[in-house]
Amino acid sequence: MLKFVLLIAAVCGAAQAIDWCAMEAQYCGTKEHIACEPNSFKMGTDVRNIQRVDIWSEIQWTIVERHNMYRRRVASGQEPGLSSASKMRQMSWNDDLAYVANAHAKHANFEHDQCRDFDEFPQSGQNLAIGWSSQPFTNFTAALQDHVDMWYEDEMPIVRDRMLSCVDKFTGTPNCLEAGHFTVMVKDSNNAVGCAAYTFEQLMDGNWWYTLLTTCNYADTNMQNSPIYARGAACSACSGSCSNGLCA
Ligand SMILES: *[C@@H]1O[C@H](CO)[C@@H](O)[C@H](O)[C@H]1NC(C)=O
Repeated sequence: MLKFVLLIAAVCGAAQAIDWCAMEAQYCGTKEHIACEPNSFKMGTDVRNIQRVDIWSEIQWTIVERHNMYRRRVASGQEPGLSSASKMRQMSWNDDLAYVANAHAKHANFEHDQCRDFDEFPQSGQNLAIGWSSQPFTNFTAALQDHVDMWYEDEMPIVRDRMLSCVDKFTGTPNCLEAGHFTVMVKDSNNAVGCAAYTFEQLMDGNWWYTLLTTCNYADTNMQNSPIYARGAACSACSGSCSNGLCA
């Protein structure tokens, strides 16, 4: 019982250190911050039995390691067709990003929120993934890993084969946004990630499907006319130390 109470206190402590509605006033203009509640972000349609996925340490570790594996692959020039990156930063888990991701994911709605920025990350990015199955999800570590892999594997070839110019300059034309999940994952400044996931059932074509929605929020996002990453030998432009191809 004591343990339970302490856990609740710790979670509330982390969440309440930030005044999310003040963040809305500061960073969101006329938009609503997803963590400033109540807001008008809608619940998903035709959904039932919404349940939070416990993002325990193994899942956090898997998400971070998966991102760093892909970042390292690109940074070290081991992705054929893509140049290496001179100052790709190592990513780590951030609980505040995860808190804001949870404020989004609990709506079971596969649409981006309008605003999620705060003092630490005033241009926070967001990747969403959704999957449907006729069977309940049993291994969330594997399922969330699949979602992260999908962002990379589905979209990396878009940049490699058709839109290499996005690496140096992210723009609307050619449409770098088509690869927006991948480009956020390998943006060199992106040193933090925090994710949330929910399972629910969703009605499609007369059947209820087991559904998993993943929201990952990032330190940084795609910016018009900015590079995704600086080209160059891995770690050749780190301001600090180098850890196996990534700036630590
Ligand atoms: C869940 O999936 C992960 C990643 O694929 C795997 O390492 C782990 O052994 C699986 N756990 C169980 C209980 O099957």
